Amino acid sequence: MIIKQSDFAVSAVKASQYPQDGLDEIALAGRSNVGKSSLINTILQRKNLARTSSSPGKTQTLNFYRVNDNFYLVDVPGYGYAKVSKKQREEFGEMIQDYLETRAYLKGLILLIDGRHEPTADDIAMYDYAQYLNLPILVVATKMDKIKKNAFNKTEATFRKHLDMNKDNVTFIPFSSETKLNVEKVKDWIQDRLDE
Ligand code: GTP
Ligand code: MG
Repeated sequence: MIIKQSDFAVSAVKASQYPQDGLDEIALAGRSNVGKSSLINTILQRKNLARTSSSPGKTQTLNFYRVNDNFYLVDVPGYGYAKVSKKQREEFGEMIQDYLETRAYLKGLILLIDGRHEPTADDIAMYDYAQYLNLPILVVATKMDKIKKNAFNKTEATFRKHLDMNKDNVTFIPFSSETKLNVEKVKDWIQDRLDE
């Protein structure tokens, strides 16, 4: 996939605010601070289109980025951030559930998990939820620039220990926004979802 165009389209907290032009969508989910907004910028070759931050909880709405006037990448608020209130966490959960469960244009979910650690209980719950929704899932291990090459297999094995990824709808890719490791593979996965 060649990126010819990208721009921020809209922020939404409810369905009436989602884009209405009928383009396909690919959503990103993952723990706060795992690197969702960074992955969007890396894919789109834009430094700061999606706002990133070293403090978790930066993205608080569903943010739709239009790409090649052909599809949207949807940045979703991160889960597992302890400092947001219980009420806000519930509101985030509802907003994400509403979107993932009702959106017919959604063609796949990119689930980002920190490659340096074991998947958390929240990561596993999100993965199981995406399976329950029957979505094509790309599991991306993030921040792989922090891992020595000879430990890549260990990351994959750790992920596989917690997530049953031997399924037709699941792909696993180690990734780094820092070094752009496997950015083309992620783009190819997106293209395949749009072609399906
Ligand atoms: P929320 O919006 O809070 O849910 O976070 P997010 O998942 O969008 O994370 P974001 O992209 O804002 O990145 C969080 C922090 O991790 C930032 O300080 C990034 O610079 C850093 N980061 C993201 N990707 C990578 C990566 O591939 N390697 C390294 N070393 N750092 C990264
Ligand atoms: Mg973000």
